[in-house]
Amino acid sequence: MGEVTGHANVRAAARDTENYSSDLQGDRDVRTYRQIPLEVDPPRHHLYRTALSPLFVKPKIEKMIPQFEAIGEELITAFSKNGGGDVVSELALPMVARCLGVIYNRPQDVSEWLSWGADVWITTPEGRSGKHLDAYLQTVFDEAENSAADDAWTFLSNLEISGARLARTEMYGIANVLLAGGRDTVVKLMTGMIWHLANAPADREFLRKNPQQLSSAIHEVLRYLSPLPRMERVPAEVKALPESDRDPKDYVHLSFVSGNFDESVFAEPDVINIHRERNPHLAFGFGPHTCIGNHVAEVETAALVTNFLRQIIDWEVLPESEISFDTIGKFKYPGRFHSLVVKCN
Ligand code: HEM
Repeated sequence: MGEVTGHANVRAAARDTENYSSDLQGDRDVRTYRQIPLEVDPPRHHLYRTALSPLFVKPKIEKMIPQFEAIGEELITAFSKNGGGDVVSELALPMVARCLGVIYNRPQDVSEWLSWGADVWITTPEGRSGKHLDAYLQTVFDEAENSAADDAWTFLSNLEISGARLARTEMYGIANVLLAGGRDTVVKLMTGMIWHLANAPADREFLRKNPQQLSSAIHEVLRYLSPLPRMERVPAEVKALPESDRDPKDYVHLSFVSGNFDESVFAEPDVINIHRERNPHLAFGFGPHTCIGNHVAEVETAALVTNFLRQIIDWEVLPESEISFDTIGKFKYPGRFHSLVVKCN
């Protein structure tokens, strides 16, 4: 598969939806419908995106911050009492799942979401599976049809676009990305923050004294981790073919991570420097599909890390932690934190 690399090229391609179309269906091993609005081009993309904006509008999310902080405080108090533990499964994943429970007003579903693990596509001995997610979506949208609840699924069930209610596959496609998009990415960001601050005591002290700088630090760690490193696009000549004749091997990747390690934009890109003056990173993508949950990711992470810095003065990462590294050009960066085992000192 071809790849668009480099900060300027990736930005240009992300804007050029004619030649780099999102009109495709990804995760072909686990689903049969499109994630919406991710896999739709303008102008229809814009209609979906506008319709979904009430779920993520900034003032609404800001009002939820005290709840996110209370969840963070509760999780970290227990973690600290135990003298530490695995950040991925004991802090980041429950934090993300419970915050999504608040945002979508579905606290009753948190334990089900947690049972899936960090990824909505459950790993089975045969590989990834979409069976649990599909069964869940069918149940919640059957219920939503006759429900007056004030939750995200009822909202989608009543949503109209250009005067028409959504088809079931559209509801599934939207709910799918609402559940998938903000899980393993945010888990990686939260875990990566705690990993970095364990390795960088000076940054830890700086952020304790200057909590208003936490946002810049989160964005720098986002740049370095690139939790969603690349996304598929359909070149114009492939898009011209009937969908059944397209070969996904002819799609191209937009490499957001290559933009984040572009030396012409970021000096010493393999160094996490929370004091960078400019940080036009591409971790949330660029152009019309720029992440709709970028603010959510930041405030959830800030709620967890602020509490961590407040309650846990010193901590170390134990060698039994399992981190796999990826490379981008000559640089190496953490691809996945399978576990991050921390001892509170
Ligand atoms: C650190 C956390 C996150 C990262 C790194 C991330 C990354 C991204 C990227 C790179 C894209 C653009 C994909 C493309 O151009 O093809 C995107 C889109 C999207 N993200 Fe996120 N994301 C994060 C968190 C979230 C959260 C918390 C949510 C929701 C709760 C979310 C929901 C979405 C949705 C719905 C889209 C599609 C937007 C569109 O097509 O217009 N993401 N994300």
